[in-house]
Amino acid sequence: MCGIVGYVGPQPALEVVRDGLQRLEYRGYDSAGVAVVTEGRLETEKRAGKLTNLEEALAETPRSADGIGIGHTRWATHGAPNDVNAHPHVDNDNRVAVIHNGIIENFAALRLELEERDCKFTSETDTEVVAHLLGEEVKEHDEDLAAAMRAVCRRLDGTFTLVATYAGDPDTVVAARRNSPLVVGRGDGENFLASDVAAFIAHTRHAVELGQDQVVELRRDSVNVTDYDGNPAPVREYHVDWDASAAEKGGYDYFMLKEIVEQPQAVADTLLGRVGVDGTLTLDEMRLAPSELREIEKIVIIACGTSYHAGLIAKYAIEHWCRVPCEVEVASEFRYRDPILNRQTMVIAISQSGESMDTLMAVRYAREQRARVLAICNVNGSTIPRESDGVLYTHAGPEVGVAATKTFLTQLVACYLIGLYLAQVRNTKFGDEVNAVIGQLARMPEQVQEVLGTVGPVRELARSLSGSGTVLFLGRHVGYPVALEGALKLKELAYMHAEAFAAGELKHGPIALIEDGLPVVVVVPSREGRGVLHDKIVSNIQEIRARGARTIVIAEEGDETVRPYADELIGIPSVPTLLQPIIASIPMQVFACELALAKGNDVDRPRNLAKSVTVE
Ligand code: F6R
Repeated sequence: MCGIVGYVGPQPALEVVRDGLQRLEYRGYDSAGVAVVTEGRLETEKRAGKLTNLEEALAETPRSADGIGIGHTRWATHGAPNDVNAHPHVDNDNRVAVIHNGIIENFAALRLELEERDCKFTSETDTEVVAHLLGEEVKEHDEDLAAAMRAVCRRLDGTFTLVATYAGDPDTVVAARRNSPLVVGRGDGENFLASDVAAFIAHTRHAVELGQDQVVELRRDSVNVTDYDGNPAPVREYHVDWDASAAEKGGYDYFMLKEIVEQPQAVADTLLGRVGVDGTLTLDEMRLAPSELREIEKIVIIACGTSYHAGLIAKYAIEHWCRVPCEVEVASEFRYRDPILNRQTMVIAISQSGESMDTLMAVRYAREQRARVLAICNVNGSTIPRESDGVLYTHAGPEVGVAATKTFLTQLVACYLIGLYLAQVRNTKFGDEVNAVIGQLARMPEQVQEVLGTVGPVRELARSLSGSGTVLFLGRHVGYPVALEGALKLKELAYMHAEAFAAGELKHGPIALIEDGLPVVVVVPSREGRGVLHDKIVSNIQEIRARGARTIVIAEEGDETVRPYADELIGIPSVPTLLQPIIASIPMQVFACELALAKGNDVDRPRNLAKSVTVE
């Protein structure tokens, strides 16, 4: 959600922090701020709006920091996104500055208590209580900021990453973590803190993962991690295996455009090392033994947004290949309805960021009910995989654009791999089909590339529709979640009304929406093996066209049966139905992206959204 950066070292701190914030701005971006300590004085600057507003303000009053700094991009939870509510927040003596990601649930009670001690509040945020509490505690603890942070954290309820500086100790940055992301970057004579490695990857690829309820004290030559009582805490160090250029635009105007184009490589990387030449799958990181997988009686997939759509598609594949009942549920609803789980349930949590709070809470709930939890995630070391029994990482590389593209495709690949592996381990009756599909899956990178080579007309079509008020999406079978994903992309990027329906449901109500010229995108299933479905959707296309809809049909190349009813025909390669979402989603992504660009929207940073949603 919010982006957080901290730096201690010999480089000009302000520059390092500002550079880090630029790389994190996608996480949340309704305001931004920095704090530096200069000659023992704390200086802060913060501005509502995009980072450029802060940069302009900083340019007006140049500062040379001593070598520590913290910075923040905010996605508002408490208080409007204005200058005053932007982070950092400071105590009344202007000695302590703090930035925060998450929600302090007991902030109202703490604020009341502080006000009774004559503390003056300037903002409406929950964060400001931490600044005042830290200001008090640092005096109580002989100017030891880490000890003060531990004392404050013991009093906080909720989820948070906190990072603080203190004018009285210009060599230290201190941070705390509960549920929200925070990672340390270890450099040579310098150290970094950030909510995402992208912020410091240009300086170091040596990262340290922080655990739950830990406080870290960062100095130039040391990283000291403790629990809230001051006991040394174990940490995991790891090497970040992508470099800074992966998180740059590389000549594209938008990250999203670059990330769409990176999809063949992302799919190939997710398959890499997992599919043997003889079709044997190796998924060791799952950390779930074949004997455990044979005991599974039910699978429950939990996820949000685009990841949820990947889960919906996985259900078709898993039930067909493995013959295990599979439910899919929106993570934010899951734990509130008393779901039936036990040791024979495998919960698959899909989250590209590994930090979505709704999914994390559902994972915790599932584990409390003794279910085995397997995460599908793109961010190494993030919270959801760490709290799961096993993980299958998608190797899509960093995804900066807020709208998920390459992470969605690689989530699909990961879901297919799990389904096919389960089918192999459980020796289900579809052995031959499974082997054939594994062969097809291995060819997917080329087919994704092929689709990307043919989307030019989709761009033109999207531009021609930028004046439309509504676009509908229809699909059947796996094409239905693809339609849902197409509609979600259009809503979030183009701010347009878009709705998706299972094509068979149309006659039960939504067909009343069809009027002259209404654009309707239809995903037509492969003809292979599922001819009945294919023919039924062709009838659905005829029904809506007869009522005036402008039909935009995504169908297999050479499918002449749809041509007479398609106002626009978008051809995709022929692949087995269950794998079709991988390629059918691409024209949808391009369509939404291009239409949003035609409307002048920022596709990397759509309004009101954040890349990593770390609040419930
Ligand atoms: C849509 C999008 C969101 C995310 C959702 C879950 O393009 O990106 O709908 O899919 O917020 O995020 P993760 O996968 O990080 O849990």
